[in-house]
Amino acid sequence: MRTTVGIIGAGPAGLLLARLLHNAGIDSVVLESRDRAYVEHRQRAGILEQGTVDVLRAAGAGARMDREGLRHDGIELRFAGRRHRVDFPALTGGRSVTVYAQTEVCKDLIARRLEEGGPLLFEAEALAVEDAESQRPRVRFRHAGRQDVLECAYVVGCDGFRGVTRGVFPTSSRVYERTYPYAWLGILADVAPSHDELVYARHDRGFALLSMRSPSVSRLYLQVAADTDADDWTDEAVWDELERRLETGDDWRLERGPVTQKSVTPMRSYVHEPMRHGRVLLAGDAAHIVPPTGAKGLNLAVGDVVTLARALVHERDTGSSELLETYSATCLRRVWQAERFSYDLTTLLHRDPADTPFDARLQLARLDRITSHRGAETDLAEAYTGFPLDA
Ligand code: FAD
Ligand code: DHB
Repeated sequence: MRTTVGIIGAGPAGLLLARLLHNAGIDSVVLESRDRAYVEHRQRAGILEQGTVDVLRAAGAGARMDREGLRHDGIELRFAGRRHRVDFPALTGGRSVTVYAQTEVCKDLIARRLEEGGPLLFEAEALAVEDAESQRPRVRFRHAGRQDVLECAYVVGCDGFRGVTRGVFPTSSRVYERTYPYAWLGILADVAPSHDELVYARHDRGFALLSMRSPSVSRLYLQVAADTDADDWTDEAVWDELERRLETGDDWRLERGPVTQKSVTPMRSYVHEPMRHGRVLLAGDAAHIVPPTGAKGLNLAVGDVVTLARALVHERDTGSSELLETYSATCLRRVWQAERFSYDLTTLLHRDPADTPFDARLQLARLDRITSHRGAETDLAEAYTGFPLDA
């Protein structure tokens, strides 16, 4: 099998890259190790930055998002019994975010890809990337019980944190990593969200987040110990703990409902530099991970593939590989800003078991600064609604 761009992974990064290339008239093949149902139902991100919404719309994959996505103009910070709303448009010159789940973004992109004739192969596992330094890198993969080879002009690893593509990068590559001594226990529940915007709560017992998937489905997260097994928590215990951490001094109440999913997400910061080796490139979680607190992961993946598609089109149109050569540096600048923001928001709101009373008091002082100083609050609002894709 031959193609111009071989894409490993059909998460948001791989699917959107295939779409952007298709729109520009560049052919690609997408290989995905899991089946379609798995990719379409894996519960993950929920918040799209303004720039991500604009990209999906311009790519012709935004019709359902425009109908069903929920525009959010702010978030609430809860701490020390206080509630503070961060007003995004007022602080950022009109920017907002959209609640539209990653599962739905993937469904929309898969449907468009298959309507247009693919190629998108499910249950096609990339086993190895070969000849990265040559003009024709190859992907060896297994599909329908047979081994095959995909010959490409470029290979793009959109294969997430546990993918195979990073493996072809030389040992001179650098990895920057941080793990956190806690994780998130997430639930999906059939109950209307108890607040019309997301609530990020800092509590002495740990972090809690109230989010949503639709007007009738809530998504909630609790900070738990890093080694937690989701089955150790009964639904009732989860609701009780959410209630404690989200508690306010007024008459706000948390509505409970049937829990339909429960899982634990580890927290990690990770950056692999560079993101290009010869004709092999990395995009999305394959190159970088952020802890979920700032909702940046999917949005970063979108930023990478927009930059990459532009570089591939530029090379096709002008013969110049200049933008491909600067691809890694261009993305990493944005990636490190998201790493900084996600780390800041995570350490602002979570309780580290090693924290002293001094650290806890400092968190409250940082929150007090954000909620009483327009400059500090603007910094949060700008980062949350998203860094410009061209920066
Ligand atoms: P992935 O979605 O991981 O896709 C990689 C794909 O590659 C997978 O489908 C995998 O099966 C496939 N693959 C792997 N190896 C191979 C192989 N060898 N051969 C073929 N295919 C392979 N981000 C946000 O922006 N906003 C949020 O609100 C947010 N919330 C989150 C909440 C949680 C609980 C979690 C876990 C994550 C959250 N994220 C959020 C992060 C976001 O989900 C990821 O950053 C995003 O999925 C990255 O997309 P990707 O396409 O790079 O990688
Ligand atoms: C969701 C996830 C996040 O990481 C976040 O910061 C906000 C919302 C969510 O899954 O809804």
